[in-house]
Amino acid sequence: MQVTDALRGRRTIRGFKSTPVADELIRNIFETAQQAPSNCNTQPWEVFVVSGEARDELEKALVAEILAGKQPSPAFPPGDADLTGVYRERQYECAARYYGTMGIEREDRDARNELMLRNWQFFGAPHVAFLCMPVSMGPVNAIDIGIYLQTLMLLMVEHGLGSCPQGALAFFPDPVREIAGIPEDMGIICGLSFGYADDDAVINTARMTRAPLGDCVSFVS
Ligand SMILES: Cc1cc2nc3c(=O)[nH]c(=O)nc-3n(C[C@H](O)[C@H](O)[C@H](O)COP(=O)(O)O)c2cc1C
Repeated sequence: MQVTDALRGRRTIRGFKSTPVADELIRNIFETAQQAPSNCNTQPWEVFVVSGEARDELEKALVAEILAGKQPSPAFPPGDADLTGVYRERQYECAARYYGTMGIEREDRDARNELMLRNWQFFGAPHVAFLCMPVSMGPVNAIDIGIYLQTLMLLMVEHGLGSCPQGALAFFPDPVREIAGIPEDMGIICGLSFGYADDDAVINTARMTRAPLGDCVSFVS
């Protein structure tokens, strides 16, 4: 598979088959992802892959915490707070396409909350990886985590797997820390739910657009 095909073929998957991915394939993907580059080769990602009973236990604990009204407490500021201008417009368009695909009206808060809750059910994926970096690190190091995340997602495309990157999985760290055994000095940046895509799931028909090249890139000579 060409890199271009993997890039163009990847999209966020939010409907999964329950079939688990073979341990060997998971290890192979994470082993290869170690090749991701990083600032001064610090490789600041510390990753916790949760599957099986631990995954089910974590889903229960997260959903219970959210339904009990717990407030989010991410280690790092969330990326979608206080967006303005074109960024706010793109966020709106993304939400409109997502909810539109699911037949949810913007005013239907209950349906939107129910869909949001699926984040913490890992959208039915049998595996979820939590990508962490030391809490002492900042935005420049977070670049490395982003590169690592995309590396993982493209490798998963190559191996026929679907994935869903989720900032939402950083919001309620306590049960994740406890069940996955994440040390205090590590902050969760995001999660990545993964498994085999359910090709019949309506949610997987959502398609996001991209801005034209000229809106994002200037060529100067
Ligand atoms: C760092 C990051 C965090 C994200 N967080 C979430 C999330 O919490 N929940 C979700 O459903 N999608 C999340 N997404 C998926 C984006 O909405 C998606 O990548 C974007 O709309 C573009 O769509 P595409 O991935 O299908 O091309 C996240 C993506 C990234 C890269």
